[in-house]
Amino acid sequence: MSQPALTREINEDKMNAFLGKVVTDFGASLSSILSYMGLKLGLYSALADSDGMTPAELAEKTNTNERYVREWLLNQASGEYVHFDPATGKYSMLPEQAVALTDEGSPFYVGGGFYVVKAMLNAQPRITESFQKGGGMLWREHDPDLFVGTEKFFRPGYTAHLVNEWIPSLTGIEEKLQAGAKVADIGCGHGASSLIMAKAYPNSKFFGFDNHNESILTARQRAEDEGLSDSVTFVTANADSVTENEFDLVCFFDCLHDMGDPLGALKRAHHVLADDGSVMIVEPMAGNTVEENFNPVGRTFAGASTLCCTANSMALDGAALGACASEDQFREIAAEAGFTHFKRTAETPFNRIFEARK
Ligand SMILES: C[S@@+](CC[C@H](N)C(=O)[O-])C[C@H]1O[C@@H](n2cnc3c(N)ncnc32)[C@H](O)[C@@H]1O
Repeated sequence: MSQPALTREINEDKMNAFLGKVVTDFGASLSSILSYMGLKLGLYSALADSDGMTPAELAEKTNTNERYVREWLLNQASGEYVHFDPATGKYSMLPEQAVALTDEGSPFYVGGGFYVVKAMLNAQPRITESFQKGGGMLWREHDPDLFVGTEKFFRPGYTAHLVNEWIPSLTGIEEKLQAGAKVADIGCGHGASSLIMAKAYPNSKFFGFDNHNESILTARQRAEDEGLSDSVTFVTANADSVTENEFDLVCFFDCLHDMGDPLGALKRAHHVLADDGSVMIVEPMAGNTVEENFNPVGRTFAGASTLCCTANSMALDGAALGACASEDQFREIAAEAGFTHFKRTAETPFNRIFEARK
């Protein structure tokens, strides 16, 4: 009989603690799929609108099958996403659960994350193959729920912080926007950031650019729905070929690290920026060292990055910065693109805000 290559001594307590973590993750992963279904089927909103419901009542209200709903509720109450009262046999939602899972206007809304998880699950076969063969997967090739989920996931943070904290943190930009300025939002996706700024600064003009045509069509529809088509123009364009110039502010919201050529994008930003303008680079929160990412936020962004952000850039044989790129990496690219000033001006638990100036 051959000997094992390594003899490992197992500490039972440490093993049990580790297995406990793994089982928690099994449950969390499966619950994320069920949360996506709860959002799609209106189960959370029906429950949030009630004083408490039995599985049968929830099924009737949502026109769904009671047997599935009963099982779904068991999973959700186990994960503490809904509340169960053993005395009445009814399920309900605590205020915090209801806001975080049903109120899309709230800064605490987290529903978008479940759309992203669902879409990432569908990307797995392609990305597994890319691990072996190289290449990657372009943004536009993903399950469309990624585009919806990204908008839903990031918009609450933009609503809470963009106008109140991030813009005032930049050099003289708030005053310019109030007076009437010209803004580029590169990699704008569904345009949430442009629309939030357009509402806050009615004297300014906004131009959203993205190379994903479907996202631009959605962004235009959003602008029309919100009556902002006069102040926001959405254009299908690659970051390195942005039209117009003399922008007072050029923004990259959660997208520079995704790009095949982030240096080319920043060089173009430098070219189209007015001399005293600012580039605002909004990036996922990440550490300056590898180990500073070992927390729930770093774990989440590194996961999405493997399945999406890094894969988009790898598909283009690009820089593949990834969602956890360090501040120093952005500083170096900004300097190479010609910017002489670079600093972190704000941050939230999910985002770092950098300003680059000529
Ligand atoms: C993670 S999404 C962020 C979307 C949006 N800024 C937001 O915060 O909701 C990244 C976006 O960057 C866009 N993108 C990636 N590479 C691009 C490029 N080279 N030029 C223009 N847009 C690009 C993608 O199409 C996608 O819409």
